[in-house]
Amino acid sequence: MTDIIDGNSVAERIRNDFGASIDALKDEGVTPGLATVLMSDDPASETYVSMKQRDCEEVGIDGIHVEIDPDAPAEELYETIEELNDDPEVHGMLVQMPVPDHVDSRQVIRAIDPAKDVDGFHPENVGMLVAGHPRFKPCTPHGVQKLLESADVDPEGKDVVIVGRSNIVGKPLANLLVQKADGGNATVTVCHSRTDDLAAKTKSADVVVAACGVPELIDGSMISEGATVIDVGVNRVDADTEKGYELVGDVAFDSAKERASAITPVPGGVGPMTRAMLLYNTVKAAGQQNE
Ligand code: GUN
Repeated sequence: MTDIIDGNSVAERIRNDFGASIDALKDEGVTPGLATVLMSDDPASETYVSMKQRDCEEVGIDGIHVEIDPDAPAEELYETIEELNDDPEVHGMLVQMPVPDHVDSRQVIRAIDPAKDVDGFHPENVGMLVAGHPRFKPCTPHGVQKLLESADVDPEGKDVVIVGRSNIVGKPLANLLVQKADGGNATVTVCHSRTDDLAAKTKSADVVVAACGVPELIDGSMISEGATVIDVGVNRVDADTEKGYELVGDVAFDSAKERASAITPVPGGVGPMTRAMLLYNTVKAAGQQNE
């Protein structure tokens, strides 16, 4: 029987675990605060940000939300980031990506105080991650690590193939899994759109992580019997539903399920974990700033 890894229940467990840390901070007069900044009218981004704010409310984190007109000059965004950097009630901050074309995303990330960069995207935090002592583990890669742990899949010594080399998922996940640390010690291959014979690579893997943003790219024929499959993809594809679309992953779930020993669904797999780890990082940031 294939184990369908339930991201919602793992996320709930994690949220309960750090609930005690939130209570302890509140006893010391500190309520963790997370600021989200949205400079986009993309409906998917709007949904992600509102879910993050709802999560904050549910666990007792102060959520602060700032919206900036996508046509506004970039300076408006930088001024907002500076204000949030200086606000002692804001412990964590994220600018939802992507930002409009006239805004330089790398400059945006560098403008965020690294101590508040709960995404873990700032070059200082990327450096700390690569060096093996992350200040904040980036949320989606950390969530993937936690899902593997929940499925009793220890990456140590295993061949892990990551399909996708983004700064948000593929690259940081490769760094986490290769580290000499619990939840690491894997042999990691990072594949991408220029990889020759992708199927040969994925078929050789004990663990396949799909994070390339191509709907259902990885099907059952590309997975070895008994592999663990983690699907990070969230793709809106046209469908005859009320909303006019449905969400599918980067994995063709039905055929992959036939061969995998454990697999995450979309939705309800990695997504809730990303959000839980963002809250985790916010609580961690508040603790660090209260030391
Ligand atoms: N856009 C898509 N994923 C993310 C994320 O993890 N953080 C931010 N800030 N923007 C995103």
